[in-house]
Amino acid sequence: MNKTIKVFPPGTVANLVCGFDVLGLCLHEPADEMQVTLTNNRQVIITSADGYNLPSNPALNTAGAPLLEIMQQLNNDTGFEVVIKKNIKPGSGVGSSAASAAGAVVAANYLLDNIFSKEEMVSFAMFGEKVASGVKHADNVAPCIYGGITLIRSIFPLDIVSIPAPPLFVTVVHPQIEVKTSDARQILKKQVLLKDAIKQWGNIAGLVAGFMKNDYELIGRSLEDVIIEPIRSILIPGFDEVKKKSKDAGALGGGISGSGPSVFMLSKDEVTANAVKLEMHAVYNGIGLDHHVYVTRINNEGVRIETAP
Ligand code: HSE
Repeated sequence: MNKTIKVFPPGTVANLVCGFDVLGLCLHEPADEMQVTLTNNRQVIITSADGYNLPSNPALNTAGAPLLEIMQQLNNDTGFEVVIKKNIKPGSGVGSSAASAAGAVVAANYLLDNIFSKEEMVSFAMFGEKVASGVKHADNVAPCIYGGITLIRSIFPLDIVSIPAPPLFVTVVHPQIEVKTSDARQILKKQVLLKDAIKQWGNIAGLVAGFMKNDYELIGRSLEDVIIEPIRSILIPGFDEVKKKSKDAGALGGGISGSGPSVFMLSKDEVTANAVKLEMHAVYNGIGLDHHVYVTRINNEGVRIETAP
């Protein structure tokens, strides 16, 4: 008999400003909904239950590609049917492609009686990121699968470290424009100056230390990116103003979420996070750009599996 499971893979904030491709954080909201069925018909069938025109060819779909890899490893008659309802808008910068990939893999693993480790699940999910952005980065799929904040110390071989952190509130604004991760990677310089690299790795180490020591001031000081942000922020209208006004309102700091266009800010408490939300609204209302703002928290669980009542 075919077994079916429902999972809710959440959004994620990759990079965390200074940690390009190596740091990521899992959010409570938004989250997609996926129904995955295990079959004994060696193929992947994808159905969309939303208005997004995402490819149904599994090799070109961020949920499908990781499942094809799992099937190749299993080398038997196993197949999957997937129904995806995306609540995380593709191209928004909060890990939409990663949610599909991570959700598919976590569901498959559950249906296969948990044969894979978390690290193995991340390595499968990275095939979805390759489809989306041309590159196997893990800073969205790892926090989506592990929950919390993750450090990707290495991709080949995979080495993922969970980073404990104090309670933090995350305000996210999504200006309604689309930035493709592949485009946002293409514009980056291939070389960095040593003086910039020194600043950047000081900030990454400071940010990780700040999380682990519950040192909010250190977290705030370390949320600085001298390599990627100066280039990518040009694609995001109102970016500098959002950042300045959010910090004036009390945010610890923040920046581009993943490859954008969403911008996130971390705050110590909910009152500040809501004040930041109002400032973000004001900036985009001033520019006349349609946008969506929300306050959420760090999700320490990752992909939620709906267990039968
Ligand atoms: N680290 C990736 C990038 C994340 O910034 O290109 C994409 O969400």
